[in-house]
Amino acid sequence: EQARQIQQTLAEFRLSKAQLLEVKKRMRIEIERGLKKDTHQEATVKMLPTFVRSTPDGTENGDFLALDLGGTNFRVLLVKIRSGKRRTVEMHNKIYAIPIEVMQGTGEELFDHIVHCISDFLDYMGMKSARLPLGFTFSFPCHQTSLDAVCSHLSHLQDLEGFKATDCEGEDVVELLREAIKRKEEFELDVVAIVNDTVGTMMTCAYEEPTCEIGLIAGTGSNACYMEEMKNIEIVEGKEGRMCVNMEWGAFGDNGCLDDIRTKYDQAVDENSLNEGKQRYEKMCSGMYLGEIVRQILIDLTKRGFLFRGQISETLKTRGIFETKFLSQIESDRLALLQVRAILQQLGLDSTCDDSIIVKEVCGTVSRRAAQICGAGMAAVVDKIRENRKLDHLDITVGVDGTLYKLHPHFSRIFHQTVKELAPKCDVNFLLSEDGSGKGAALITAVGCRQRELDA
Ligand code: BG6
Ligand code: GLC
Repeated sequence: EQARQIQQTLAEFRLSKAQLLEVKKRMRIEIERGLKKDTHQEATVKMLPTFVRSTPDGTENGDFLALDLGGTNFRVLLVKIRSGKRRTVEMHNKIYAIPIEVMQGTGEELFDHIVHCISDFLDYMGMKSARLPLGFTFSFPCHQTSLDAVCSHLSHLQDLEGFKATDCEGEDVVELLREAIKRKEEFELDVVAIVNDTVGTMMTCAYEEPTCEIGLIAGTGSNACYMEEMKNIEIVEGKEGRMCVNMEWGAFGDNGCLDDIRTKYDQAVDENSLNEGKQRYEKMCSGMYLGEIVRQILIDLTKRGFLFRGQISETLKTRGIFETKFLSQIESDRLALLQVRAILQQLGLDSTCDDSIIVKEVCGTVSRRAAQICGAGMAAVVDKIRENRKLDHLDITVGVDGTLYKLHPHFSRIFHQTVKELAPKCDVNFLLSEDGSGKGAALITAVGCRQRELDA
């Protein structure tokens, strides 16, 4: 009886192919709404223009600084790109911590800290006097009006957990950075481009593989970008060629269109979050929230007496205990149940052997659904590109980054499988980004610099 009730609880997370096709279809509808002038304002999937007009062609050249902010790590990088027959990219980088009080402080404090890190990095590299062009990977939604300008009243430094208290909402982050550099009075930099991490990832991968025209992050957050036809991006002038759009697909479902597949556990996760009602799709499929869904289910099963001897420990009440790396370990097939118990023990959860079996199944069910709905979203994107190009069959590559995709033992496989099943007319190849999005940001900066020279 207990087993049956547990299965009943998990059944809601097991989506049929028909349901997944429905998710794909709805994503397509939201994509169109984001692209169209009439509906863009109220659209949930924002389809933000990035002003990146092409993937790299190998002629990019020069030394660039890149910042990578928003994922697990904050990195400062020096990227040396050499064009020509034997093109090379040499990268040096340093990871910096952002203390919690800075993360939750004011925008000014955050950017002063960032500039402090740049200063340290330039000292370390011995390059203080170089006045390098800089590309800024910023993993938050930005309404851009050009490569280096954010339309200030529309920009949000909003929804990523942790950065919540930062008061940059409505501010132009490029200006914030420029001002912080001025305040420091130690070095000059030329901020050339602001880049979403999906876009940086796509460019990083496209440098190696020209068929890469989609970028995906399956990490702390979840998002994608792709090369859209200019004529379809109604809020940008011009009809020729293509432009990369940052979909901000994490907000898919914020208008209620996924409510029929959201469970009460998804709702609980949402209510417990710092941005209630927002990023609903992301909350079902990104690393930051999978553990939270698992935790909500475990709390419920414990309350019902099926787990942990019915005792809800303080640990289980703690937000964020199940990080992606723990879920990945728990679900690893190489791990014996005894080891699963050891991990739970580490987290402060005393489990029996039966408990560990249940926990593992809960994790597996939640992450499978995540991979599937993420795959349904991607299926919508590849089919859209195929139709844009009026093809019966599309061959395309997706550049991917993110800890969930990289660390989880099953996520990527189930994700690939789903895309294949839901978009049978596309052959989709997945390329893991080894170098992070900073390299891509530097490539975009190189193109931006060249364009400036041409314009001058
Ligand atoms: C990194 C990229 O490799 O992956 C970042 O350089 C990106 O730009 C990050 O934000 C995403 O993964 P996660 O798991 O750290 O959110
Ligand atoms: C969040 C951000 C988005 C970013 C994604 C992955 O969804 O809004 O800009 O690309 O996380 O890091």
